[in-house]
Amino acid sequence: MDGSKEMGGLRNVSSVCSISEMDDFDLSRLLNKPKLNIERKRSFDERSLSELSIGLARGLDTYETTHSPGGRSGFGTPASSTRNSFEPHPMVADAWEALRRSMVYFRGQPVGTIAAYDHASEEVLNYDQVFVRDFVPSALAFLMNGEPDIVKHFLLKTLYLQGWEKRVDRFKLGEGVMPASFKVLHDPIRKTDSLVADFGESAIGRVAPVDSGFWWIILLRAYTKSTGDLSLAETPECQKGMRLILTLCLSEGFDTFPTLLCADGCSMIDRRMGIYGYPIEIQALFFMALRSASSLLKHDEEGKEFIERIVKRLHALSYHMRSYFWLDFQQLNDIYRYKTEEYSHTAVNKFNVIPDSIPDWVFDFMPTRGGYFIGNVSPARMDFRWFALGNCIAILSSLATHEQEMAIMDLIEARWEELVGEMPLKIAYPAIESHEWRIVTGCDPKNTRWSYHNGGSWPVLLWLLTAACIKTGRPQIARKAIDLAETRLLKDSWPEYYDGKVGRYIGKQARKYQTWSIAGYLVAKMMLEDPSHLGMISLEEDRQMKPMLKRSSSWTC
Ligand code: GLC
Repeated sequence: MDGSKEMGGLRNVSSVCSISEMDDFDLSRLLNKPKLNIERKRSFDERSLSELSIGLARGLDTYETTHSPGGRSGFGTPASSTRNSFEPHPMVADAWEALRRSMVYFRGQPVGTIAAYDHASEEVLNYDQVFVRDFVPSALAFLMNGEPDIVKHFLLKTLYLQGWEKRVDRFKLGEGVMPASFKVLHDPIRKTDSLVADFGESAIGRVAPVDSGFWWIILLRAYTKSTGDLSLAETPECQKGMRLILTLCLSEGFDTFPTLLCADGCSMIDRRMGIYGYPIEIQALFFMALRSASSLLKHDEEGKEFIERIVKRLHALSYHMRSYFWLDFQQLNDIYRYKTEEYSHTAVNKFNVIPDSIPDWVFDFMPTRGGYFIGNVSPARMDFRWFALGNCIAILSSLATHEQEMAIMDLIEARWEELVGEMPLKIAYPAIESHEWRIVTGCDPKNTRWSYHNGGSWPVLLWLLTAACIKTGRPQIARKAIDLAETRLLKDSWPEYYDGKVGRYIGKQARKYQTWSIAGYLVAKMMLEDPSHLGMISLEEDRQMKPMLKRSSSWTC
């Protein structure tokens, strides 16, 4: 955008006036609209709630009442806890207070939460910004607590930022790219607020966040589902925002795979960690965003065209992921015996994976019952590491078939010590060390073995695990994980991550009062307390997309 200038490492659209017009227009027009009847529209998408067979003690009879938004009883008081039939854990009130402290305002309106409110930490880095991915659990907590306005403001503010022209040096980024983060600058003298945003041009490594746009669409669906208010998603601005994101990821090129080719560090793991190529985290989010968009796009001329493209892509993507990323005992055994150098359509080992490249650890790690989507698949390369976020999103989006989602949960139970240990949940397993660490991370001192992205344990993942547990009818696993988190999180001041093989130590460079650790805990608690919340972040299997797997289905036995 014209008039932008570098400031504090971020591009600053300084002209408070220039942002104001369209901004205020957007916000006031959309927010001051008389609130639609917020009665939930059950017909809006997949009836996922009524299809839930979660086998929990609580019935779904509380669904309508617990979902009607509003009714927050006062500052710092979670609406959900006032509705409890049992005493809330003392940590809950503390968490709400900390979450509210992290709220960021733009011209008096809440627009997000900062990544960490850690005053003890010497270096702020960029933790004083609103990260798109970090805000998701905050948003869900607010939605579950009947406070949708902050989510609406956030969606509109980031949508507005999407409209900025984005450049790295002399190169222009795609129009649809959503920011990784943004910051509100308050000018106490002029009494004005302005925005700065980072689309990757200030980030370490200069990588654009591929996940931001997907989270944005997923959150728009969560908002719509939670409030029943379709009017936001149906605005021309939101429809265009979605189409721009989709244009980026549905474009045709040299690809021979339906998966999305990515640079290292383009998602939650935002430093070099060997996840370049086709990382599971992005593929799962891509799948979920496509499904969410197809339920939000209007069936007008432009919308219809995108919906058609989405349907085709989903078909190919689910086939590819379910066939080639899936690993269980049977499949591992098949790969172990693969022939190589096969040519033509009859090839079994399509990507020419050399069995010698299978790491030793995976043979012990693989239980007889269970399986998971591996980290990456590309020519002659399978990254066998387990990644928590991708697998949980695969469950929530129904990228995983019913059998596969059960197998993922079986694996988590069978490998509890490795994947959960003393603090839920390992971001990736196992850690890479020594020579491999040098080559793969480029000697990254923050990503040493069992720390940070390299096998560290991230409390934020608790909400994803809990959601996956509820969807698969295993709430007792979530309960166990939450109990573990409750022994430490508050006492340790809500760290960003834990280190060590079982996650026993507070992370070496972990922030305290990390917002998504706090929000993730609240979301996990609220979902377990009222499983009907799951509907806003979960999609039931699309029956038309039923898999036709030709490969082994060992997980059924
Ligand atoms: C770290 C994490 C990233 C997160 C950011 C803010 O960079 O790797 O996923 O968004 O901190 O919390």
